[in-house]
Amino acid sequence: MGGESEKWALMVTGRTPTNIAVIKYWGKRDETLILPINDSISVTLDPDHLCTTTTVSVSPSFDQDRMWLNGKEISLSVGEFQSCLREIRSRATDFEDKKKGIKITKDDWQKLHLHIASYNNFPTAAGLASSAAGLACLVFSLAKLMNVKEDYGQLSAIARQGSGSACRSLYGGFVKWIMGKEGDGSDSIAVQLADENHWDELVIIIAVVSARQKETSSTSGMRDTVETSLLIQHRAPKRIIQMEDAIKNRDFPSFARLACADSNQFHAVCLDTYPPIFYMNDTSHRIISCVEKWNRAEGTPQVAYTFDAGPNAVLVARNRKTAALLLQRLLFHFPPQSDTNLDSYVIGDKTILQDVGVQDMKDVEALTPPPEIKDYIPTQKSKGDVSYFICTRPGRGPVVLSDESQALLDPVTGLPK
Ligand code: DP6
Repeated sequence: MGGESEKWALMVTGRTPTNIAVIKYWGKRDETLILPINDSISVTLDPDHLCTTTTVSVSPSFDQDRMWLNGKEISLSVGEFQSCLREIRSRATDFEDKKKGIKITKDDWQKLHLHIASYNNFPTAAGLASSAAGLACLVFSLAKLMNVKEDYGQLSAIARQGSGSACRSLYGGFVKWIMGKEGDGSDSIAVQLADENHWDELVIIIAVVSARQKETSSTSGMRDTVETSLLIQHRAPKRIIQMEDAIKNRDFPSFARLACADSNQFHAVCLDTYPPIFYMNDTSHRIISCVEKWNRAEGTPQVAYTFDAGPNAVLVARNRKTAALLLQRLLFHFPPQSDTNLDSYVIGDKTILQDVGVQDMKDVEALTPPPEIKDYIPTQKSKGDVSYFICTRPGRGPVVLSDESQALLDPVTGLPK
């Protein structure tokens, strides 16, 4: 199987982005294979700001599969990991590194154990699709390590079996998850609609909303919806085609109308579920009305909003100028708590702050109400309802990090660095 001393370890590090759906996936027709009841479309977010990095390592000296997430060991026995590991192992092919004297055959891969270390560059608890990036990164990195020859579409079908939305993180730009028809899920794959350079004017601002309660997981939420909601049958498949056209033509007003309508419809379906599911909270609703008022005042949409299974708002601005105007409004309505500094309140691409013209908390406090607010009452300001903002943009798909210094596992011990 290997070199003389059996001391070798082989290692790959991958980096995979998160994605945000603008046409939501909600509801499964097969829970084991994770097959959805509708097509969905997402935007991949810039991995510089939101991504998972995963190092996978194999060595004859490992006596069991082990995994660490953000430095803490976690159990690999849960179904979603097991499905991905099984599927990837079954597609492993022969590998040889003559220089290092390592040879691993297809059969060896079934017996060799793995060490996996994964790290999110954003807080896992913030509810920002960490499972999507995480499972996509696991599948991507293992596929590279095990010399898997399948294309990204087929890898997306494996990631899908870990978490549905993960399949869309195998590509950058705009991605469609085709629901497919086959019973075995072979045609339920992600495809890229356009890469990250196609519509590079867009700016994305995420408002991480302070949440008090633990949310219903997507998995159990969508199960209840499929069983109890009558509204779910009315989710419009037509939107997929219209959204594809809006993206192709960089038609922002259509993009924004469709994304907002689909997010609102998804949350309406959640409310129509028994027991009802509330993902958005009062802060989420206030962000929507701030955007809606502004869009209406301008006569055409400047910003689109979308909310996943939680209260965080993902806001897409048509260009940098509108993004600065948006951030100005957000900082006005949702200022940080007095002891927070601006540097930790707006993270990601901070250069937008310069366009807003605010440098510190004094500047935030001096912001005046936007013109569309006619009846502003000062007590409406809600300090601390938003934890922080992340400024980002559409981004690229997975990459291998070839620089060993970026690996999360020590090449000698096989343990987290
Ligand atoms: C609201 O992909 O997390 O974010 O397949 O059960 O793991 P499982 O669910 P998950 O659901 C995502 C739901 C959503 C919409 C979307 O991303 O399309």
